[in-house]
Amino acid sequence: MSASATDAEPASIVIFGASGDLTRRKLVPALHSLMCDGYLPEEVQVVGVARTDMADAALLDRLYEGVMDYARLEPSICERWPEFAQRITYLRGDYGDPETYRRLGATLRELDATRGTRGNRLYYLALPPAVFPTVIEQLGRAGLAKDGDGWARIVIEKPFGHDLASARALNERVHAVFDEDQIYRIDHYLGKETVQNLLVLRFANSIFEPVWNRNYVDHVQITMAESEGVGHRGGYYDRAGVLRDIVQNHLMQLITLTAMEPPSALNAKMLRDEKVQVLQAIRPIRQDDGVWGQYRGYREEPKVDAASNTPTYVALKLYIDNWRWQGVPFYARSGKQLSAKTTEIALQFKAVPHLLFPENVDLHANRLSIIIQPNESLHLCIEIKVPGLGMRVKTVDMEFHYEEHFGEDVLPEAYERLLLDALQGDASLFARSDEIEMAWALIDPLTAEVTPELYEPGSAGPPAADALMSHDGRRWLSIVPQNGDDEA
Ligand code: BG6
Repeated sequence: MSASATDAEPASIVIFGASGDLTRRKLVPALHSLMCDGYLPEEVQVVGVARTDMADAALLDRLYEGVMDYARLEPSICERWPEFAQRITYLRGDYGDPETYRRLGATLRELDATRGTRGNRLYYLALPPAVFPTVIEQLGRAGLAKDGDGWARIVIEKPFGHDLASARALNERVHAVFDEDQIYRIDHYLGKETVQNLLVLRFANSIFEPVWNRNYVDHVQITMAESEGVGHRGGYYDRAGVLRDIVQNHLMQLITLTAMEPPSALNAKMLRDEKVQVLQAIRPIRQDDGVWGQYRGYREEPKVDAASNTPTYVALKLYIDNWRWQGVPFYARSGKQLSAKTTEIALQFKAVPHLLFPENVDLHANRLSIIIQPNESLHLCIEIKVPGLGMRVKTVDMEFHYEEHFGEDVLPEAYERLLLDALQGDASLFARSDEIEMAWALIDPLTAEVTPELYEPGSAGPPAADALMSHDGRRWLSIVPQNGDDEA
């Protein structure tokens, strides 16, 4: 996360999986927007590697459609596709065949000579995880993994492993070929503007940090709700479930950024050291502490086992055993097919210690809500006096909305930020090996088969999730906080 955004260094970006969905929907649209914003000098070239035997023009058409459909700066705003397309080289080949890597090496050397890419290579594994080890080993064997005249880096998509053992095994295999500082394990949540703003909110303001602890915070709620179902990803999802798909990575990242101590400097080591400290302090979570749900109709989704018990919803209560957070519950929930798509971090503060206004028996405690998406915003709920001669008190929401303040289309897509950081050699917003393994160590005990409670699509999740809260005398916030409702 560079302090100031500068141009990417010259490099060849090698995308393995060039004909796949991620490349079309995320990577190429992000690169195109980066070019439009002036961050990609001409010496940044793209080599797309794919098994699919399609004509160059057909691949380019497919990628262009992706830019049209998904880029932040779509071509009606910035039309530089022809220029971008010229930077793309398509290399067809089998991922297990050494010949693919021999040809890749020759292509990269040619780009160094003719396009000024200076021996720098950013490899991007936009592939199913089963293929990761093959590509990594082949890159090693072909001598493409070591820093030579320039640098070599590798970006690895999630899921990074399926459990602790497989994550460790994958780390070992990657480390056999790449050094840790060459490895960029992506979690696109870290690339979201509003997630990075958590650091600014906490550490560039003096008024929040003094109350960001057990003395003032009653509890923390983190919600990652999705309105869509599993769609065409049923095959993958049925093996992963919400724990592996969301909790081990995205939710854990949100928890660590919310809970961590201030790093003494904004660099990859310090930032990740602090996040690891939080993971180490999370009290082991028991499966019984969670509420597990599955949306009605999930078993009928394509490629999902008709008797599947895979949870599509989970609500967890966890504790962070350190000085700052002792005794403060963190409630985290995530699910598919809920009533809205929203990601929110809310700090619920404690009630005032003494009630001065007897006619207002139900004063609300303050709350700070950070809406990560959509409608990216901050909300500070405070009590004010209702105008008039009596002494009535009402909760009002002091709101800040990114779009109102900064305008439309200003929030870069997560992949823009992350690709630029990887090109600049800044790993702050990528997960380190110990971080990944610690997150898995917390998740592993929760992965035994459960019988999830059914919930209705479009609802707020299974009723037992409400009981988890009401048992503690608390309530979930609405999963549509921006519409003014308070409770789900
Ligand atoms: C992905 C998960 O990592 O994140 C998906 O695999 C999920 O299941 C997606 O839908 C959510 O990302 P976002 O950015 O849309 O909140």
